[in-house]
Amino acid sequence: MKKSALITGVNGQDGSYLAELLLEKGYKVYGLIRRKSVVDYGNSTHLVGKIEFLYGDMTDLTSLIRAMKISEADEVYNLAAQSFVATSWEQPVATADIDAVGVTNMLEAIRVVRPACRFYQASTSEMFGLVQEVPQSESTPFYPRSPYGVAKLYGHWITKNYRESFGMYACSGILFNHESERRGLEFVTRKITDAAARIKLGKQDLLELGNMDAKRDWGHSKDYVRAMWLMLQQDEADDYVIATGETRSVRDFVNAAFTALDIELEWHGTGAEEYATNKADGKTLVKVNPKFFRPAEVELLLGNPAKAEAKLGWKREISFDEMVSRMVKADLERVQNER
Ligand code: GDD
Repeated sequence: MKKSALITGVNGQDGSYLAELLLEKGYKVYGLIRRKSVVDYGNSTHLVGKIEFLYGDMTDLTSLIRAMKISEADEVYNLAAQSFVATSWEQPVATADIDAVGVTNMLEAIRVVRPACRFYQASTSEMFGLVQEVPQSESTPFYPRSPYGVAKLYGHWITKNYRESFGMYACSGILFNHESERRGLEFVTRKITDAAARIKLGKQDLLELGNMDAKRDWGHSKDYVRAMWLMLQQDEADDYVIATGETRSVRDFVNAAFTALDIELEWHGTGAEEYATNKADGKTLVKVNPKFFRPAEVELLLGNPAKAEAKLGWKREISFDEMVSRMVKADLERVQNER
């Protein structure tokens, strides 16, 4: 019999890649989306007709119970979230409703309707926040630095608690930053590759960013959704860090993106006064704008994926340079074709 999977947040970056992977593996795939005034399948638009979309909301338990009944899911991947850290200071309560209590809603729906269903929770390296050790692993203490991180920490612990309380097969993947051609334009990597493409094509003059010194462990989403699936195929449920084991600053990412477009940058100044010019003609292309600084910052993330590599046999396949070059190429093509 075909296995059935329910993906919440199926129209996001990870949801779309995961849906493709599960279809390849022969699953019947259901995707939960929220009703909006304009129908929007987001990153999964190309999957219309291949997966079944269900309307629901993480803050509405009854809609999740309904989704469980219709899908008869063997596996649930909870990827729905208010996932932009900066917005979590503007909408802290909604972030908690969706990213924290929403996880309990999903777990309850599973417990009531199909307790044998396996559950994946999208936990995050943001839970490490003000990092207590470098690199971070499954045993590193948490110290979230944003309403988003705090809400996700609740989601992480409630998943563990349902595993221990009810013997449910419930796992958390502590995923470090993962990007792609499908990444939302508000996240720093995509903001950079989109702007670099526009600058190259003469459609934008300047890229303004916040903290250039923040360091992240950036992998490709396509590699990371494979880890989610692997986590639900084990004998026992457990939690895993998924990361590349490499860290780079925002400035490094900017350099990589412009280099991929044959533009060499020269950096000047520090902090709020920092800017970069085009080495070829001295024009300022990148500058810091303090409006993008966050009230509390996560300065350094670097993950240790040793447990996932050993126990799941997971390995990332897309290198940092390959990821940046794919993102830049896709943005260049898209911006070129824009009218
Ligand atoms: N978004 C953004 N825009 N970030 C900027 C900018 C800017 O103009 N300038 C500097 N940054 C810095 C942020 O301050 C942060 O330190 C870093 O770039 C990365 O920001 P984001 O790309 O917005 O991602 P994030 O690290 O805050 O969160 C992402 O990764 C988490 C995993 O660690 C999101 O995908 C989360 O949902 C995810 O949990």
